[in-house]
Amino acid sequence: MKGILDFARARRDGRPIGMVTSYDAWSARLAAQAGVDCLLVGDSVAMVVHGFADTLHATPEMMVAHTAAVRRGAPELFVVADMPFLTFRKGPETALDVAGALMRAGASAVKLEGVRGHERTVEQLVGSGIPVMGHLGLTPQSVHQLGGYRVQGRSAEDAARLLEDARTLQALGAFALVLECVPEQLATDATEALAIPTIGIGSGPRTSGQVLVLHDLLGLSDEFRPRFARRYLEGHALVRDALQRYVTDVREARFPAREEVLC
Ligand code: KIV
Repeated sequence: MKGILDFARARRDGRPIGMVTSYDAWSARLAAQAGVDCLLVGDSVAMVVHGFADTLHATPEMMVAHTAAVRRGAPELFVVADMPFLTFRKGPETALDVAGALMRAGASAVKLEGVRGHERTVEQLVGSGIPVMGHLGLTPQSVHQLGGYRVQGRSAEDAARLLEDARTLQALGAFALVLECVPEQLATDATEALAIPTIGIGSGPRTSGQVLVLHDLLGLSDEFRPRFARRYLEGHALVRDALQRYVTDVREARFPAREEVLC
């Protein structure tokens, strides 16, 4: 995918969109070679790569550096960059500065969580030529307010509120919407209610597309195993075993071998 019109086309044609997170040039290049539709430089980078306990620690500088690396790895792909915690809550001016820096670093669009209280900011970003992807349901930047990482929109009242927010984002000009950890029926209702595509994570199969955190998909953690994230590789064990073999070879003088000596 190259532009937001491709998202609209995919939604219209009923072609599922496959999105994955990427934080560096190496994984961006691999994802592009694999035919992934678009990349998300998620603020999950703060947890997955930088080892923080939550996404609140992602900063504009961190997001800009990772976005630039991803762009270098995948010059042709559509890249969405997360707006870090609070950067879109201080008013349109701060949001425009941060979104501008992300776009200059190579983002094709920005993603921000929620909508209530920052409607004017979304409008200003879109009106300034910056494509906005919404994010509703489990919004990790609000983990402390939500009381943990838990499914959202279970009650009729919460579901109605989410549907209203989804319609608001569409009306404000968002080109797509991430729905994280909401019940399958609510994700289906939102997808049917909207003309823009929905990208689900932990929200069942009936959204317009899916997004997964690359490290979950590759099984790179031995601790974090969300049920909704299918592991396509037991990456943690594979990488650990490779490293063990390497260090054993060094200790037992099996590396380097004759053919690995340059001259
Ligand atoms: O930061 C992130 O990785 C995300 C996805 C989980 C949607 O926002």
